[in-house]
This record gives sequence, structure tokens and C-alpha cells, in this order.
Amino acid sequence: TVERTFSIVKPNAVAKNVIGAIYSRFEAAGLKIVAAKMVHLTREQAEGFYAEHKGRPFFDGLVDFMTSGPIMVQVLEGKDAVRRNREIMGATNPENALAGTLRADYADSLTENAAHGSDSLESAEREIAYFFANNEVCPRTR
Ligand code: CMP
Repeated sequence: TVERTFSIVKPNAVAKNVIGAIYSRFEAAGLKIVAAKMVHLTREQAEGFYAEHKGRPFFDGLVDFMTSGPIMVQVLEGKDAVRRNREIMGATNPENALAGTLRADYADSLTENAAHGSDSLESAEREIAYFFANNEVCPRTR
């Protein structure tokens, strides 16, 4: 089934100048970019996005990192987009990420792991709405 998922190119990957390289991975895997923008998160925005992790030992470091520079946020559409995007990214911890995945190639650490992707359709819906108004996302054609 055709799905939509939410994706972030994190500050370390933007700083490495690999936005296009990462977008090419999505496109080569058959995922279409149906919304995209660059944003520099405030602490409030980053804390809200990662609210489910509040209280975890890595939370403050994660917010520091995610507000350290601009990010790209995008909506990806395609067959099994949630799972496919997670395959393209590789494991959250780059030490466990398979060769050829985004995290294997562009992560610097568990926190600076280059990309974020929704872990479910429910998360995708919430995360897309957190960053995009309805009129900022391409209408569905199917
Ligand atoms: P992300 O998919 O953006 O979701 C939460 C982020 O927290 C995760 O990627 C990691 O970059 C970061 N993080 C840092 N430490 C941990 C940890 N111990 N477990 C899970 N996520 C962590």
C-alpha cells in the first residue's frame, strides 16, 4: 500500500553537504518527496517533537544537537514508505547500521545519526502535522 512517512535530514548531515545525496537515496528506492523545507528548530520545537523521549538520559543532548543548525524536513510517499525509509536509514545506532545505509555512511554517533524517520503510520501522521500545514504537502493523485 502507498503510504506517507516523515523524514528529517539532521544537522550533522546538512553540515556535511549531503542533502542531495540523501534525497537521491530516497528517490532511487522509489520514494517520492511530496513536501520539503529547511528549518532551524527552536528548543521548544525540538522538545515538542521528541516529547515521547522527555526524561530519558539522552533527551537534553538530543535537543542540543537538533537545535545546533538547520535541518531538512520532508514527507516521503511510496509503497510501504514507513518501512522502506527505515531500511534506507539503517539502525538508530550507527554501530549496528548495515553497510550502504544512511546511518552507516553519514552518522557521527547515536545522537548525531544523520536522519530520522517515523516508526509507524501513526507517528508519521503526527510528525507530518507537526511540521507541515495541509497546503504545504502535495495532494494525493491516487
Ligand atoms: P531518532 O530517530 O531521531 O529518535 C530519537 C533520537 O534520539 C534517535 O534518533 C537518536 O538520534 C537519539 N538517541 C540518543 N541516544 C539514544 C538512545 N540511547 N536510544 C535511542 N535514541 C537515542
